[in-house]
Amino acid sequence: MITIIGAGKVGGSAALHSAIKQLDDQILLLDIAEGLPQGEAMDLNHLLSEQGIDVEISGSNNYEDMKGSDIVVVVAGAGRKPGMTRMDLLKINAGVVKDVVGNIKKYADNSLIIPVTNPLDPMAYITYKTSGFERNRVFGMGGMLDLSRFKQFIHEATEEDELNRSSRKVIDAIVIGEHGENMLPLTRFAQISGKPLPTIFSQEKLDEIFTKTKNVAAEVIKLKGATVHAPGNAISSMIQSIVEDKKQVMPVSTYLDGEYGYSDVTIGVPAVIGKNGVEKINELDLNQDEKEWFDKGVNSVKSALAGIDI
Ligand code: LAC
Repeated sequence: MITIIGAGKVGGSAALHSAIKQLDDQILLLDIAEGLPQGEAMDLNHLLSEQGIDVEISGSNNYEDMKGSDIVVVVAGAGRKPGMTRMDLLKINAGVVKDVVGNIKKYADNSLIIPVTNPLDPMAYITYKTSGFERNRVFGMGGMLDLSRFKQFIHEATEEDELNRSSRKVIDAIVIGEHGENMLPLTRFAQISGKPLPTIFSQEKLDEIFTKTKNVAAEVIKLKGATVHAPGNAISSMIQSIVEDKKQVMPVSTYLDGEYGYSDVTIGVPAVIGKNGVEKINELDLNQDEKEWFDKGVNSVKSALAGIDI
């Protein structure tokens, strides 16, 4: 069973995408708000019935109902308001995540946990430490969402250039580091049909794509109040790689133990995601600039955690 803790917009979207992809025959939406998970589940089941999809979605306010879950997604907590950074949510959400993870430990002790609550990387660290799980079983959704945006802006750049117009399918790109102000869209590693991005676009265009990727979430929040579908989809893509044991390389926020020269921090790195969660962390050969950006993200996460009682 897949359990999604937090039945708000992102949790509902993650349930929808996971059900449409038929990633499990049972999906549980959990929330403290009376009626919200139950109403969301009903609404989604109506959709699934019309589609003829035999996935049962249920809603509950009772942690005990997640007993035996294989995968638990943690979306619970406050979302940012226009003008806020993800890190502004640190104090509010640290306590929420600690409480949620204490219940996961109690009722779903064999599960894989996908933190989503922001600020993602510190919340993934709190999840890892509070759960006491092996590190391969805790990996946060952040980079998958950032790369969604990175790919969109690469696609838009190709649209502007007749010679390079191409399908979204042939864009390969990854974002690592902090899911926040110091995220690192790797323009040097991105490719369109195998052609490295720097051979297609000017440095100015690459810098523009980099900056847009970093800032677009705040823009969406300003326009519509929250980001919903892209995070919901990104969560379901991670779940899909687990349940189908796809061993897809994805950027996930996971605990480092020497990788990239760091230990005792959770940050977005490329990892092989399969039935056991993080099956391998891939170390990319970053140049000096990329390393500096990555280090800024690590330092941001470490200093945030320094102020939190875990
Ligand atoms: C975003 C939030 C989920 O990037 O961090 O949309």
